[in-house]
Amino acid sequence: NQYVVIMAGGTGTRLWPVSTTAKPKQFHDLLGVGKSLLRMTYERFASQIPSENIYIVTNEAYDDLVKEQLPELGEQQILLEPNKRNTAPCVAYAAYKIASKDPEATMVVAPADHLILKEDAFQHTISVALDHAEKEDTLITLGMHPNRPETGYGYIQYIPDSSVVKKVKTFTEKPELDLAKKFLESGDFVWNAGIFIWSAKSIISAFEQYLPDLSEIFSEGMEHYYKGNERLFINKAYTQCTSISIDFGIMEKAENVYVLLADIGWSDLGNWESLHEIRQKDESDNAKPDNALCFNGKGNIINIDQSKLVVVDGLSDYLVAEEDGVILICRKNAEKEIREIVNSVKQKK
Ligand code: GDD
Ligand code: MG
Repeated sequence: NQYVVIMAGGTGTRLWPVSTTAKPKQFHDLLGVGKSLLRMTYERFASQIPSENIYIVTNEAYDDLVKEQLPELGEQQILLEPNKRNTAPCVAYAAYKIASKDPEATMVVAPADHLILKEDAFQHTISVALDHAEKEDTLITLGMHPNRPETGYGYIQYIPDSSVVKKVKTFTEKPELDLAKKFLESGDFVWNAGIFIWSAKSIISAFEQYLPDLSEIFSEGMEHYYKGNERLFINKAYTQCTSISIDFGIMEKAENVYVLLADIGWSDLGNWESLHEIRQKDESDNAKPDNALCFNGKGNIINIDQSKLVVVDGLSDYLVAEEDGVILICRKNAEKEIREIVNSVKQKK
């Protein structure tokens, strides 16, 4: 059987002040389409995979947000983590839990906060990958065509043969800028989209080999998951978990990593600039709701709720964002600065 695991426990600080620890970006309607990124991710999969096989892994602090946005999910489908331990423990929890019920399971593991514009192409890609993962002992990831030396992504070099699912030569997670530039110039690399496809068996054997501590912790849980004492077990397990991403912990190291190159209109919506890129814009390249007016400037992104009127004059390439009584006005590419601002605001509290 096929399953989906949506990872929804990250905090996304680069989109502050909209994305906060209390309500991270995946729970926001960042595109102004009337649903959150999590809801969009869920619906994208629910048209392809039985909805009872879709699991969300998130921090217990977001339990209510998930229930509110995905009321159709059963209690068993929301896996709650007591601590933030990055994505490897999150994947281990879900993989061992699913395997305890269905050892032959294949699964897609996906972030909750990405945009995919070409849904048909995406669904086709996922079904090709799932078919492959069912037959072969492989860890598959989706490869995206890169267009800038982004240092926040994983870079994949593959063997360029004619197969649909290509063998990966090297996987480098979040390289330094110099290296990212070399990767981009060489033309041999694609970005890791962070969407993974594998069988429960394959990912479990990768945990056994590369993250044996996590494997020991979560395999012990298998007898607990469907007996009612899951929370007790998990709360204890997470105190013992190291914090590591699936990319550093497994994808960089495993020998059986494969990539499926896909043209799916992918964007990771990581910062305000990337949000501006994909949002609808007026004739002056401003992305804004109708209750924001921009004069004598272009390329701005305005993020305010409907109850306010905002007037911006003489600014170009700026961000104006308001959430919960916090207003931020800065250049829309001030990614590094926003991270620093978030930290200093936190320190003051
Ligand atoms: N449940 C849970 N628990 N989810 C988490 C946690 C956690 O502790 N930490 C992060 N997540 C979720 C995030 O909400 C997001 O949906 C997903 O896991 C990926 O985590 P990010 O923190 O956003 O990873 P990243 O963007 O730095 O890097 C990953 O994605 C890139 C593409 O966007 C990597 O896979 C890169 O290799 C990849 O290029
Ligand atoms: Mg991300």
